[in-house]
Amino acid sequence: MESLNQNYQNFKDCYFKKNVLITGGLGFIGSNLAHRLVECEANITVVDSLIDDYGGNLFNVEEIKDRIRINIADIRDESSMQYLVRGQHYIFNLAGQVSHIDSMKDPYTDLEINCRSQLSLLEACRKFNREVKIVFAGTRQQYGKPDYLPVDERHLMHPTDVNGINKLAGEMYHILYNNVYDIRATSLRLTNTYGPRLLMKHDRQGFVSVFIRQALEGEEIQLFGDGSQVRDFTYVDDVVDAFLLAGMDERADGEVFNLGGLEPVSLLDFLKLLSELTDCSYKLVPFPDDKKRIDIGSVYSSYYKIRMDLGWQPKVTLRDGLKETLSFYEKHKKHYW
Ligand SMILES: NC(=O)c1ccc[n+]([C@@H]2O[C@H](COP(=O)([O-])OP(=O)(O)OC[C@H]3O[C@@H](n4cnc5c(N)ncnc54)[C@H](O)[C@@H]3O)[C@@H](O)[C@H]2O)c1
Repeated sequence: MESLNQNYQNFKDCYFKKNVLITGGLGFIGSNLAHRLVECEANITVVDSLIDDYGGNLFNVEEIKDRIRINIADIRDESSMQYLVRGQHYIFNLAGQVSHIDSMKDPYTDLEINCRSQLSLLEACRKFNREVKIVFAGTRQQYGKPDYLPVDERHLMHPTDVNGINKLAGEMYHILYNNVYDIRATSLRLTNTYGPRLLMKHDRQGFVSVFIRQALEGEEIQLFGDGSQVRDFTYVDDVVDAFLLAGMDERADGEVFNLGGLEPVSLLDFLKLLSELTDCSYKLVPFPDDKKRIDIGSVYSSYYKIRMDLGWQPKVTLRDGLKETLSFYEKHKKHYW
């Protein structure tokens, strides 16, 4: 699509010399976004708490560390955030507690980070920077177990875990502040995102990182259930495009958009592809109880709205994306294991 390519070329025109804050900027998606914004020559500040076992990793920004400001702070700290939001043209708001299982074991931490801190970030903007544009990272987990497929933005919200509820509240605060205080905000509801710089050392970041790690370790991969569950996967570069488009296009203000993958893929087919690329072996095993209780079965999203409104669509095939991901970890394994 021609309009799509034109939009993508405009990133540098839009972000050149602009002040950009990335919350969660040492994490997986935030650091990939930082790399792309460095190419646009934006003035980038990343804020990240580097809490143990979360996705933040200083190696994620090793190559660009001299071209960005790194602020190790917690978004729960209101004074830090009140200082950091000042003078920013854009905030890409990706800091979050991302583990669904952890949100059930420790719901209050999830509440503090994914809900209360989102409100305090918006309050900081209301008091100190009403001109900013914010793009928030929502999640398709907000929908819960789907009533129909593909899930579009009109689908009812019935999250199946604490994380989904708090992410939904965080998103709604952004849209409320857009509507009531004219603080421009957009939420992108991300689906399974994969690619370089994803945390690998344990399984709180979800099954994709577990499978990739086990494949590279030569371990047998265990797949819960019969493998027929369907997901859509978005390569991180496509997700970065969506954040940049949503930031620069005023048609995104006050809107919520799903992202999605090129096509739905069953987990068994995902593993077959991974096995073709790495020679790994796998077997099907029954679901553990704690995971079964919050499992949402098959799910994939419709990205029709963002395609029509902003011209975004995923471009990277699962095969190409996985190849890139595997070669990144083969090279940089010691920083992620
Ligand atoms: N990766 C996915 O598949 C996916 C899917 C749906 C939604 N999302 C959302 O996208 C965002 C980014 O996810 P990611 O995959 O890059 O995860 P990630 O864990 O790699 O990145 C999140 C970052 O936020 C930081 N962080 C967490 N709590 C913080 C706090 N209190 N103060 C400051 N920093 C804090 C972490 O240290 C980490 O670097 C998250 O909000 C997540 O909910 C991701």
